[in-house]
Amino acid sequence: MQTLELRHVGKSFGQLQVLKDINITIEKGEFAAIVGPSGCGKSTALRMFAGLESPSEGDVLADGMAIKGPSPERMFIFQEHALYPWSTVEQNVGLGLELAGVSKSERKERINAVLAKVNLAGFNNYYPAQLSGGMKQRAAIARALIMDPDVLLLDEPYGALDAMTRLTMQNELQTIWSGSGKTMLLITHDIDEALYLADKIFVMSARPGQVVETIRLDQARPRNRNDESFSANRQKIMSLLGL
Ligand SMILES: Nc1ncnc2c1ncn2[C@@H]1O[C@H](COP(=O)(O)OP(=O)(O)OP(=O)(O)O)[C@@H](O)[C@H]1O
Ligand SMILES: [Mg+2]
Repeated sequence: MQTLELRHVGKSFGQLQVLKDINITIEKGEFAAIVGPSGCGKSTALRMFAGLESPSEGDVLADGMAIKGPSPERMFIFQEHALYPWSTVEQNVGLGLELAGVSKSERKERINAVLAKVNLAGFNNYYPAQLSGGMKQRAAIARALIMDPDVLLLDEPYGALDAMTRLTMQNELQTIWSGSGKTMLLITHDIDEALYLADKIFVMSARPGQVVETIRLDQARPRNRNDESFSANRQKIMSLLGL
């Protein structure tokens, strides 16, 4: 569930206008991506969908209703994994369920299921410092997924990872999404990552951020990064970004 929408959204922080008349619609179950220059307001837009920031103008909607605050239906994954360093993988991943009053035995079951889903089975008792960068990010995704949200909001989740790990993680994310019915919104600096994963890419201009183009991708998955339409779209986005 959950169609996401920004309707004529503007945002200013004091004198600084960050977003200007943004219109975005993400249908339920769709995989959308945002690319744009640093500082153009991508994280700000994502934080609005998460209910962590309110617009100065316009409407931020989920299924046509104003988003007024955070909700477990829309989980947010930060660039920095933000795991608690003093808690194990299992404790980090299970925290949301614990706060929701879910029993220990059910928690255990759901933790194991979600860890298997993100390829972290058996790492229950590891601390974040004992994990690789990719594994930390998998744990952060597990912590969001365990709440079974309708929407996953991902703010450059793989930005800090090496190129090879990124490719693996992109495939894992695709597997998590496909057939799940979940709505995904991914912010990335990596144009190929957006082209590989998304149904729709919003290309933003420099601040004040505006959507300069929406690119729709309907190639079957998994996609081939070397095929013609992939390259053509890569070229198109690069020229829109002035690269
Ligand atoms: N809480 C805040 N108070 C004041 N200014 C803010 C706040 N949050 C963001 N900004 C400003 O808004 C602008 C856009 O920030 P934002 O983090 O949304 O950009 P971004 O597109 O995500 O950039 P990056 O690609 O570097 O992550 C920046 O100039 C930033 O300084
Ligand atoms: Mg950002």
